[in-house]
Amino acid sequence: MGFAAAMAGRLRSLTTRVLYGAARDEMAVEIKSKAEIEKMRTTCRLAASVLEFIEPHVVPGVTTGELDRLCHDYIVKHGAYPSPLNYKGFPKSICTSVNEVICHGIPGNRALKAGDIINLDITTTLDGYFGDCSDMFVVGGGTTPEVEKLIDVTRESLWLGIAEVAPGKQIGDIGAAISEFAGKRHGYGVVEAFCGHGIGREFHMPPQVSHVGKRGVGLRMKPGMTFTIEPMINLGTKHCDVLGDGWTAVTQDKKWSAQAEHTVLVTEHGHEVLTLRERGYRPKWAS
Ligand code: MF3
Ligand code: CO
Ligand code: CO
Repeated sequence: MGFAAAMAGRLRSLTTRVLYGAARDEMAVEIKSKAEIEKMRTTCRLAASVLEFIEPHVVPGVTTGELDRLCHDYIVKHGAYPSPLNYKGFPKSICTSVNEVICHGIPGNRALKAGDIINLDITTTLDGYFGDCSDMFVVGGGTTPEVEKLIDVTRESLWLGIAEVAPGKQIGDIGAAISEFAGKRHGYGVVEAFCGHGIGREFHMPPQVSHVGKRGVGLRMKPGMTFTIEPMINLGTKHCDVLGDGWTAVTQDKKWSAQAEHTVLVTEHGHEVLTLRERGYRPKWAS
């Protein structure tokens, strides 16, 4: 793993397993006040709107750098800051992860081709609060059935993780639901090196939200907690390399990878998906 990626705070350290002991985490995970939750709603709504705004621009020939510039301008115009820019040295305003790139792809002069897939990961800072979401886009309207299915399963696995979010449930329940579906049932590689994360006045805060957790293990969720769930699902191996730029994480076998991310709030009776989009994926069974 590159140093910069490790510094991004969500590279899962080997000690994470030890820290699964809920007590350590619980002390550090903040409970948001009503006023803070309102600010989270606002920044998350903006982050989600960036994905809606950018969708028609994801076409053959566009460069990842152009997508970055469009999103940067949109975010700034709405009075927010594009959180990745200068975050631990990240040089651009969004992450653009194409094909075999798992996450943290740096926008540049790569032009997208029909059939490519790209994850756009948007984080905004508005009134001091961070909102974080990402989704997949298929360039030119279609790709292979194998890759279409990878994207479907990735989105579904995110929502199966979200379905586990409720007071009294444990953080390991989320990763268990995701890995049982994407890994055990569909045979995909579920990335373990990067996790979801608490979010609020900081980009990455406790708890770490593993996508391969164990049921009945880890932090007990409480109303007012906010965190992301962002499974990275690979056609082949779960193992990754980080390129020489210190950021770009790619699959070791170069097979393609998909990711989807939402920021969620634990409510009194369940959860609220703060980065929901009207036309975003939502399974029929989800409440
Ligand atoms: N948005 C990513 C996440 O989901 C983090 C990107 S860190 C950056 O946590 F520096 F690469 F932007
Ligand atoms: Co995130
Ligand atoms: Co993100």
